Amino acid sequence: MNNLQILVSLIDSNRFVFVIFGFHLSYMLVCKDIQKKYETLHVLQGVSMEVKRGEVVSLVGASGAGKSTLLHLLGTLDVPDAGEVWLNDIQVSRLKGKALAQFRNQHIGFIFQFHHLLPEFTALENVCIPGWLGKRPQRQVKDRAAALLERLGLKDRMEHKPAALSGGEQQRVSVARALINQPDIILADEPSGNLDSVNARALHQLFFELRAEMNQTFLIVTHNEELAAQCNRTIHMKDGKIVEATPAASI
Ligand SMILES: Nc1ncnc2c1ncn2[C@@H]1O[C@H](COP(=O)(O)OP(=O)(O)OP(=O)(O)O)[C@@H](O)[C@H]1O
Ligand SMILES: [Mg+2]
Repeated sequence: MNNLQILVSLIDSNRFVFVIFGFHLSYMLVCKDIQKKYETLHVLQGVSMEVKRGEVVSLVGASGAGKSTLLHLLGTLDVPDAGEVWLNDIQVSRLKGKALAQFRNQHIGFIFQFHHLLPEFTALENVCIPGWLGKRPQRQVKDRAAALLERLGLKDRMEHKPAALSGGEQQRVSVARALINQPDIILADEPSGNLDSVNARALHQLFFELRAEMNQTFLIVTHNEELAAQCNRTIHMKDGKIVEATPAASI
């Protein structure tokens, strides 16, 4: 390949344009003009946003505004009808099949309101599973899972199955599971929606500690105003559109 061909292929891959403007480098997650319809319901009507590495961003809005739909699209669990999703240097909306599953496993951690722990596995095994699916060495995964559970205050509960854990403990197990593959970003959908206020506060505190310790990036859908107020930024959604968002803070 000569220099001209290299240049053309870089431009063709969209990367070059981003690098030139220095735009892409500072953002971990970028989405542009996302559209999503369910039959006649236009759920997302041109959503564009970005998240920087190390930011904790909240996504708020009334029920039905499209928050979960957007989070699923950003997390590659669903595909937009139009628009682009970029995570690091990769346009994830172009990934398919095995490559997509692998990318999701390696780069994205999820925390849901109902943590979806597998009832027949122990806390430790639940945390290990995404690591094993990612074909990482078994011992290494187990050691990291144990260290994470210990860090999250569950040292003495790791051999228990979910039914023998409290709601707050189960949610902390799901945080450890989200962290096992050292994801670039954790996408959380109402993570404290099912917790009492004491456990909710403790979970929120944990997010900020993980940001401080690991520079972990979070995008959190929440109805919890206290949590939203603690975040670097809040993005407000209404009827499938972003109606208010503060610019990404320089961190
Ligand atoms: N798979 C689907 N098929 C059809 N309609 C859907 C589907 N998923 C979501 N919707 C609709 O899209 C709209 C947005 O849903 P979404 O779950 O994104 O809202 P939300 O902002 O997360 O609300 P909440 O705060 O109640 O969780 C709703 O009207 C919902 O009924
Ligand atoms: Mg929702």
